[in-house]
Amino acid sequence: MQIGFIGFGEVASTISKKLLDNNVDVLTSLKDRSKKTRKLANDLGINVVNNFEEVALSSDILISATSPYESLELSKKYGTLVDGIFLDLNNISPKTTLEIENNFKNQRDINSSFVKGVIIGKISSEKSVIYVSGQNSNKLSILNTYGFNINVLSHNVVDASYIKMIRSIYTKSLTAITYEAFKISESLSMSDEFFEVLSITEGDNFEIQAKSRINSLKNSHKRKYEEMSEILNFLEDMQNSINNESFNNIKSSNNIKSSNNSESSNNIKSSNDTKNHNNTRNSNNFKNYLMIEATKNKFKEIDNI
Ligand SMILES: NC(=O)c1ccc[n+]([C@@H]2O[C@H](COP(=O)([O-])OP(=O)(O)OC[C@H]3O[C@@H](n4cnc5c(N)ncnc54)[C@H](OP(=O)(O)O)[C@@H]3O)[C@@H](O)[C@H]2O)c1
Repeated sequence: MQIGFIGFGEVASTISKKLLDNNVDVLTSLKDRSKKTRKLANDLGINVVNNFEEVALSSDILISATSPYESLELSKKYGTLVDGIFLDLNNISPKTTLEIENNFKNQRDINSSFVKGVIIGKISSEKSVIYVSGQNSNKLSILNTYGFNINVLSHNVVDASYIKMIRSIYTKSLTAITYEAFKISESLSMSDEFFEVLSITEGDNFEIQAKSRINSLKNSHKRKYEEMSEILNFLEDMQNSINNESFNNIKSSNNIKSSNNSESSNNIKSSNDTKNHNNTRNSNNFKNYLMIEATKNKFKEIDNI
């Protein structure tokens, strides 16, 4: 098996180390890449080919680990060339995931299948887990034999992005409220007590975790604000698309959905590695996101920590 990488930074080099330890062939291209990337690839001694087309054409699994901004364009250029699986590991929104999926669906005569993957935790951490979804996502469980923690979610490619988004809503809102409570405790000259009392119920690590969340805001509050805005836009789009459906459309699409769901759930059941998800959506799910709004506004307000 050959595993190719587009992008050879922290994620690709960490994954490659494990693959090389298990005698799996790893390749990339260093065309137009920085000194840092060249060093990471050369130090590991992986196969380097002339360009990314060659990487894609030679790979059974092609992994994109570049940046959220490059993800869509690179998937169009190289993803569909693979005779196997194209796995995107970038932090992209559900909307971008669906754009990539649509591009795959619109191509004829391709042997490539798109799988969305999200890394939960730092890739370098032993505890990190990669959640994957998409038609052929269960095939990636082979990577578990090489020491990876791959969790196959479902055949619905966007599910992995949903998981990342839900997690992001929770962790960012927690950061915002931790920051606000801490600031109030400081104003009352009770910050030591703030950490002390919360450690009683939230666990011994509370102080370390809370300080890490608060400090992270120094460099990332602007990016966090943008991410919350993107999440809100996505939720509004979901709500609008539900509102715009007429009663009849809803009724007929529900019929279609239920027949598709029973078909796909049969497929899902046939795979032991893939969890069964009911993808019918409830219109109430995308309303009343007051906490998310408040979190977004908090990140906008912070400019001097
Ligand atoms: N690190 C983590 O633990 C972690 C966790 C969750 C998600 N992620 C996601 O995983 C992705 C990769 O993260 P990372 O930490 O590995 O980033 P990184 O260390 O910055 O590496 C990015 C790599 O992509 C390359 N690259 C950028 N644009 C490219 C292009 N157009 N064509 C080919 N290669 C290109 C960069 O090359 P140059 O050096 O030449 O620019 C670099 O080798 C990101 O989307 C990130 O959000 C990372």
